[in-house]
Amino acid sequence: MARIVGSELIEDARQRGRIVFEILPGDIVTDVARETAERIGLRLVEGPLEKPQSVRSDGNTAMRRQLYKRSARWVAPRSAPAMKASRFAKIALIGAGGVGGNVAHLAALADMADEIILIDIAPGLAAATALDLNHMSGITGARTRCTGAEDLSMVAGADVVVVTAGRARAPGMTRADLINTNARVIRSAAEAITSSAPNAVVIVITNPLDEMTFEMLRATQFPRERVLGMAGTLDSSRFRHALAKAAGVTPADVSAITLGSHGEEMAPITSLARIKGRRLERFLTDDQIEACVKDAVTGGGQVVALKKSGSATIAPAHSTIELLNHMRGATSGSVPVSVLLEGEYGISGVVVGVPAHLGRSGLIEVEKLRLSQDETQALHAAADAIRNRLGLST
Ligand code: LAC
Repeated sequence: MARIVGSELIEDARQRGRIVFEILPGDIVTDVARETAERIGLRLVEGPLEKPQSVRSDGNTAMRRQLYKRSARWVAPRSAPAMKASRFAKIALIGAGGVGGNVAHLAALADMADEIILIDIAPGLAAATALDLNHMSGITGARTRCTGAEDLSMVAGADVVVVTAGRARAPGMTRADLINTNARVIRSAAEAITSSAPNAVVIVITNPLDEMTFEMLRATQFPRERVLGMAGTLDSSRFRHALAKAAGVTPADVSAITLGSHGEEMAPITSLARIKGRRLERFLTDDQIEACVKDAVTGGGQVVALKKSGSATIAPAHSTIELLNHMRGATSGSVPVSVLLEGEYGISGVVVGVPAHLGRSGLIEVEKLRLSQDETQALHAAADAIRNRLGLST
């Protein structure tokens, strides 16, 4: 039967670790699918390909193969090989606390920029962290130079500005409780970015994430492509961790994303989540899946409650590096990110977490996934709640 080969099929094959995709006679391959295949390094070959001779084996093996037809042969897809990853000239970090410091550490370790500037109002903090990071270069050999400053004008000329400045939650607080305090921080960061780094891509991490990303857009007047919010990569990682733990597999066996808000209205997408390439229901009961969803939604709060002061730092920093890696072409495919929607998923005029393709200039395009009806509703509910908190009309 003729198939329509679209970009989803191509991405899926690549995610499963395949590097060759067989096009059968009669298949219709869309232009977008061809472009996607080229971009992510999947080779399209005309089939049918000659099948390898079947392996002779004993009865037990044959029966096992039959019983576990797919799962026994399932192997965790290796992450796509690094393609032509580019290097940033300058990454500026506004906020050199736990998240900012860890982002600088991971970025310097990956040697992904010529220069990293850390900026923090706490006297000496950014300079101390920068010096500490430079001291590791004798071991790592990384060429990245780190500099610390207290002055926001040091963002000058940055390719990317990562904003973590602002208050973190205390135990019992929701992220939304920080809205007024942190909006002021975002506006002063925006002023410096607009005047000194007018071409930068801005990644916002300050909470409440979606609202602060919107605030940054409003204050900089940058196009939506250059203002991204980091949350979905973090929440997705927490969701994968929860699913892996519940199913007793390693996180590499799990693919799953969360969309929506970075808060109560988070939307973990269970319909597209897979464990060893199969639907969650093959491994987990409905109650277990529900518990994993809850674990992802409350993950940040659990860290806050244990720490008593300050929020998570390590996983958020890794999640930021994931966005930077997508931007510089070290990782392919789409990634959940908070962006201003312009009609995608039927939502406009508000920042919400959605899957998207990124490049050096920020957003390339929002990926349209086929979500279940409940998931689409959850995305709309998140958009409405964020609009509401921002005082925007619906
Ligand atoms: C968290 C903070 C960074 O989710 O929002 O840990």
